[in-house]
Amino acid sequence: MRRLAVLGAMSLALLVWGCEAGPEDNQPPRTDYYSTTVQPIFRKNCYRCHGGMNHRGGLSLATRAGVLKGGDKGRVVIPGDPANSTLVESIRHEGQDKNPKVKPMPSKGRKLSDADIAIVEGWVKAGAIMPEHVPKP
Ligand code: HEC
Repeated sequence: MRRLAVLGAMSLALLVWGCEAGPEDNQPPRTDYYSTTVQPIFRKNCYRCHGGMNHRGGLSLATRAGVLKGGDKGRVVIPGDPANSTLVESIRHEGQDKNPKVKPMPSKGRKLSDADIAIVEGWVKAGAIMPEHVPKP
């Protein structure tokens, strides 16, 4: 019986570990992670208002310079620090209490899926690596 319990605890630990380890944990940060995994989320949900000629709130997500510059109210991505990145708070639809300037994003339409939110958050945590010149949307 005890052995079973130990086994159970071990597989649980493995499961938790497996969930927490994102792709960025296993390989060095690469800009193609952005292009293949993060950019499609922005393209689908954000570029309408923050891509191309559209800079709502002064924010463009279409270029690395735009992402790092942030919007009218300052920086939105602090590489390595998702907890203090208003972009992450905005897509989690959290933070308005803590910080009233954080509006839920996308400002119209549905909240991103938990999986997409986790991808963006993990990407910021891993340093928000993206190519200087983002391929055209
Ligand atoms: C329908 C248009 C629209 C869409 C889609 C949209 N936004 Fe916004 N976004 C806005 C507007 C408008 C503002 C300015 C809000 C304000 O300051 O009152 C803004 C502001 C922001 C800000 C704060 C910028 C600043 O400094 O004030 C962030 C961060 C942001 N958006 C992220 C996102 C992300 C990430 C997505 C996609 C998941 C997204 N937005 C999708 C319209 C949109």
